[in-house]
Amino acid sequence: MDLQIKGKKAIMAGGSAGMGRATAERLAEAGVELYITARREERLVTAAQEIGEKYGASVTPIVADSSKEEGRQALFAACPDPDILSITIKPPPPNGDFLELTPEDWRASIETALIGPIEIMRHYIPGMKTRGWGRIVNIATFSAKNPMIWRLMSGPARSALMNYTAGVSREIAQYGVNINNLLPGMFQTEGAGELMEVYARAFDLEPKPEVVQEHFRANNKIPAGFVADADDLAPMAALLCSPLSRFIVGQNIVIDGGQHYSIF
Ligand SMILES: NC(=O)c1ccc[n+]([C@@H]2O[C@H](COP(=O)([O-])OP(=O)(O)OC[C@H]3O[C@@H](n4cnc5c(N)ncnc54)[C@H](OP(=O)(O)O)[C@@H]3O)[C@@H](O)[C@H]2O)c1
Repeated sequence: MDLQIKGKKAIMAGGSAGMGRATAERLAEAGVELYITARREERLVTAAQEIGEKYGASVTPIVADSSKEEGRQALFAACPDPDILSITIKPPPPNGDFLELTPEDWRASIETALIGPIEIMRHYIPGMKTRGWGRIVNIATFSAKNPMIWRLMSGPARSALMNYTAGVSREIAQYGVNINNLLPGMFQTEGAGELMEVYARAFDLEPKPEVVQEHFRANNKIPAGFVADADDLAPMAALLCSPLSRFIVGQNIVIDGGQHYSIF
């Protein structure tokens, strides 16, 4: 399928690993001029080189923390006028006892998972409106819709992001600018691997990737029967970044193998 985005400028904020990188690859494959960000330089630069070589694409790496004003300004300077913007960001790790979460913990969660994406969108939306076209895709979490007591540092801030984008997307759709959110369930990514020790401690498991993965597969009742990998999300992200999604506005699409049981 031709995504019709050849030659467009695309930002994948959080594009050096996991679902962000997989999305960046689908966009590069479709012929965009790509800008990818991350906090850690070495992995970012390697990812940009690999993606560029694999797809013959122009890929610019920008070291930028999306949760910090300085990082956002670095992104804005490097790519002032994107047609496509996809954002993912890592919130603080899974929490323990909810009674022990402090205002500082909540501020850290909100700075990363809510204010970071909002500020990036707020900066780019006026230009997209003026140019008459734009696509924004947030890669958030299904715990925004399916609350989990141990994911309070991720879910509530993303529920607020869904609320914000529900309103803003209806306001800007008339200018050809769409915002949609993807809500991933259990994915085996680099980021999930980094949290393995935390999960192993929380669920009293042996700290081995296969043990932790099997625990999630078995205990979270994923109807599809497996923990996904990043390529299970990227094609949908790329579709939402394309003109083909022109009638999809303000949606929150769960990609979780059927784990969240509901009609909508
Ligand atoms: N994996 C899962 O099972 C799962 C489940 C539900 C929701 N999610 C959500 O899905 C999203 C993607 O997860 P993933 O597992 O693909 O993560 P991942 O493998 O850790 O990849 C995250 C990417 O974003 C970058 N990044 C993170 N925080 C950033 C920041 N503040 N500023 C700029 N770049 C940042 C990372 O690079 P640096 O670290 O170098 O910055 C990396 O390139 C996250 O929002 C996560 O909360 C994941």
